[in-house]
Amino acid sequence: MGAIRRTGCGMAKLIGLASTKGGVGKTTICLNLAAVLSRRGARVVVLDADPAGHAAAVAEIGALPFEVRPLLLEEVEPKAVADWTRAVRGTDADFVILDAPGALGPAFGAVLAIADMVLVPVGASMLDIRGAAETVGIVRRHRKAGGRGRPDILVVPSRVDRRTGSGRDVVGTLAGLTEPVAPPVTLRAIVADSLSAGELVPADSPSGLEFAALADAVRVRLETL
Ligand SMILES: Nc1ncnc2c1ncn2[C@@H]1O[C@H](COP(=O)(O)OP(=O)(O)OP(=O)(O)O)[C@@H](O)[C@H]1O
Ligand SMILES: [Mg+2]
Repeated sequence: MGAIRRTGCGMAKLIGLASTKGGVGKTTICLNLAAVLSRRGARVVVLDADPAGHAAAVAEIGALPFEVRPLLLEEVEPKAVADWTRAVRGTDADFVILDAPGALGPAFGAVLAIADMVLVPVGASMLDIRGAAETVGIVRRHRKAGGRGRPDILVVPSRVDRRTGSGRDVVGTLAGLTEPVAPPVTLRAIVADSLSAGELVPADSPSGLEFAALADAVRVRLETL
């Protein structure tokens, strides 16, 4: 897929990263997806709603081609949630990508209440898939309660180790979650090392091509909404 046609002010697509399990690759996917979309000409803002602040920390040490803003929500008071929601909706961009904390809390629910789509990163092992099933169940319940038919769910095979049987068959295995499954993101040293250096994977590397394929899958799903 090529360059992105700008959608104009006030029509940002809101994409959340969601997993009740920590360390599954949310921040890594969030930042590398943002890089692909911005390289294609979209205006992208990453909102870091995780108190751990990992996305914002990467942005501080590196020179990312998009803005990363911390936007925490640590209280359940309706006014705090309303202010947070207004700040997200007021972000002028084509894509707003929300990195959420890996634990249930106010930010997790607020992301589900506002997102057009959530990406649920999941590893290939049986235990990873149990964690993802829990997240998918929570998103579905929020979607039903919200009554707006959103967020859409895209399961993203993440940190996939192709040397393992479960890694090689990850797309087939994750089909059991009965949600659309994106092309996998493979476990590679370059992915971890580049973020540690405040950088993103090179666009023409095997991992860069995987994040590009993920961005294609995201855009195809968003166009159906
Ligand atoms: N595709 C990959 N290949 C290699 N390492 C990866 C890959 N994806 C993520 N990692 C590494 O796995 C660890 C967890 O990734 P990341 O911080 O993105 O997960 P997270 O879900 O955001 O975690 P948290 O719940 O702590 O916010 C990090 O050390 C990261 O560098
Ligand atoms: Mg994170």
